[in-house]
Amino acid sequence: MIVLGIESTCDETAASLVRDGRETLSQVISSQVDLHEIFGGVVPELACRRHMEVIIQVIRQAVDEAQCSLEDVDLIAVANGPGLVGPLLIGVNTAKGLALALGKPVVGVNHVEAHLYAAIMSSDEPIAFPVLGMIVSGGHTAIVLVESIGKYQLIGQTVDDALGEAYDKVAKMLGLAYPGGPIIERLAEGGDPHRFPLKAGVCKNNPLNFSFSGLKTAVLYAMKGQDIENPQFQRDLAASFQKAALTDLVQKARKAAKETGCRGVLFGGGVTNNMALRKMFEKEAKELKCYFPTRALSLDNATMIAGLGYHVYQTKGPADLKTLDAVTRIPF
Ligand code: KG4
Ligand code: ZN
Repeated sequence: MIVLGIESTCDETAASLVRDGRETLSQVISSQVDLHEIFGGVVPELACRRHMEVIIQVIRQAVDEAQCSLEDVDLIAVANGPGLVGPLLIGVNTAKGLALALGKPVVGVNHVEAHLYAAIMSSDEPIAFPVLGMIVSGGHTAIVLVESIGKYQLIGQTVDDALGEAYDKVAKMLGLAYPGGPIIERLAEGGDPHRFPLKAGVCKNNPLNFSFSGLKTAVLYAMKGQDIENPQFQRDLAASFQKAALTDLVQKARKAAKETGCRGVLFGGGVTNNMALRKMFEKEAKELKCYFPTRALSLDNATMIAGLGYHVYQTKGPADLKTLDAVTRIPF
């Protein structure tokens, strides 16, 4: 079964063709980073306009690169949430229009679940369920228990900022570009992680929840009276922030694994692209088998949408075109 995946939840317009939930035939991603960079974050109205301009072209390119035609597509899978409402509507309505015109079935796919599916797609070995799922992106930070594909239980989530958002805000406070995650990671490589004693928040109600807004404020206080353009200062602050954030992720994953008896962790979302994160888990959580997405699948893409869409179709069948809609927030 050849699935056309469509992704437009935030600031990437993407389309991919995937066979049987596993084999990538093509992957096209049109990033809008250039558009939002100067604002230090995504501007929804600008994102909508760009999605509209490029979405058909991106789909056409994905079909061409797979050396297929639209007639060869058996199913259309679209990320219908969570995300920004305008961008979501563009993807969902493009998918519905194509489905109607071509007489093909369509399914809606949860973008956050798809990030975890990217780790499954990237693994050469079968996954020994149950496993933990750690989603660490610009919009989400959560730990879930994954019983099987499509069966999840939420164990902990952020009570304020997502970690990617915190990375982006720290970079912005230092006057650096968007997205801040990769920039902070690079700076941290040459910094002293012990110079600033920073810590992520503790959540009394659920010790497996996350809180990064206090950490962000602590970074702001650490900047007071300092020359924030000094390269060594920037490196030390980035390293101290990153150490605090990643230590928190590792500790909570280990605790969640102990409590649930899980031995493996699926990682999903842009922050899991961070090599310091990967190294810290490999070094400090040796008891856990870590499944990371390949670099090509860790940022927003439509391959993971097409891949998970295949399974959604197998278990739930096609969506009803009359009710399939954009959903900005979807609980796990
Ligand atoms: O998953 P994603 O592409 O989009 C969302 O669904 O949110 O994640 C984007 C986020 C941004 O906040 C970006 O700064 C962060 O992932 N990110 C990173 C790295 N690469 C991307 N954060 C830390 N280290 C990185 N190398
Ligand atoms: Zn994402």
